[in-house]
Amino acid sequence: MSTYKAFEVREETEKNFVGTIVEKSALELAEGSVSIEVCYSSVNYKDALSASGSKAVTREYPHVPGIDAAGTVLASTDSNFAVGDEVVVTGYDLGMNTAGGFGQQVTVPGGWVTKLPVGLSLRDSMVLGTAGLTAGLCVNKLLLNGITPEAGKVLVTGATGGVGIIACALLVKLGFEVVASTGKLAETAKLTALGVSEVISREAFSEENPRPMLKESYAAAVDVAGGTTLVNVIKSLSYGGSVAACGLVDSPALSATVLPFILRGVNLLGVDSVELPLAQKQQVWNLFANEWALTDIDSLAETIVLAELPAVLAKVLAGGAVGRYVLDLRA
Ligand SMILES: NC(=O)c1ccc[n+]([C@@H]2O[C@H](COP(=O)([O-])OP(=O)(O)OC[C@H]3O[C@@H](n4cnc5c(N)ncnc54)[C@H](OP(=O)(O)O)[C@@H]3O)[C@@H](O)[C@H]2O)c1
Repeated sequence: MSTYKAFEVREETEKNFVGTIVEKSALELAEGSVSIEVCYSSVNYKDALSASGSKAVTREYPHVPGIDAAGTVLASTDSNFAVGDEVVVTGYDLGMNTAGGFGQQVTVPGGWVTKLPVGLSLRDSMVLGTAGLTAGLCVNKLLLNGITPEAGKVLVTGATGGVGIIACALLVKLGFEVVASTGKLAETAKLTALGVSEVISREAFSEENPRPMLKESYAAAVDVAGGTTLVNVIKSLSYGGSVAACGLVDSPALSATVLPFILRGVNLLGVDSVELPLAQKQQVWNLFANEWALTDIDSLAETIVLAELPAVLAKVLAGGAVGRYVLDLRA
């Protein structure tokens, strides 16, 4: 493909960012790089920020967002990859300041690329995408900190969002009793169909509470919200409990006392899926292809095409997304 289609975002007038489908020319392949024909991408919260002009994510426009890409190698100057290999790229600079997966072609350093494990299809890898990888990393951190299904309930915040829904599905698969916190109680049936045992309103965690600790309710938690939500989650962990914190949809702020840490021995575990060494990303992909393989993974995502991106990105930015969106670029 010497030219390919991409969803390119431009600053039309000051602070007004608009995405359109354009025809682009293929890049020259630098030493150690891999050029990939992108079959699928997915929509993440960070893509919505990039597409809306967030300079914290993307410094210069015009720009093609898309922090995830899955496809086949078109050309490679990295000896680890050959033409036709099925591969996945998530994170690093993809879709931030490097043209991303919202185009039918990406060219990236070989050090960003993982081979698609046997047992996972290209589409399923993008049902998971960065959100799934992050959910997997959160669950893995909880497991490494000794959380077992016998320890008690696990809370997932932002449960209908990308990270949240995959975290719920994975924890259920691993035998945990999962409590889903959501701002969309209308989606309760979708969450209970996944095997979640209780669905509660997000408001339970959104109000500031002057008490330094609350009732011990959860053995562990996956939190995508940060801010007051994360503070209330920390206060609600039982003795020795852990929360894997990966997001900031509520707020990046964290205003808490040390009391839950020093009186209940709770753990705040940070999770980053972007700059994580490639070998650790590959480990999580391998788990999803084998013992973590999610039954009915298709039901977690809606498939969309390039022309549908503006509407979906707006929905994600407004916190209205339900589940995952897989972008099919094969047209
Ligand atoms: N650390 C990392 O490497 C990493 C990787 C991926 C994502 N993230 C971060 O994780 C977060 C979630 O990402 P995502 O892709 O899952 O986004 P998403 O699909 O947009 O889902 C976010 C969900 O959070 C909930 N939510 C929205 N506003 C909220 C608020 N004010 N308070 C509490 N919950 C709120 C909503 O779910 P409900 O309606 O069900 O509550 C929403 O659907 C983002 O902050 C993202 O930047 C971090």
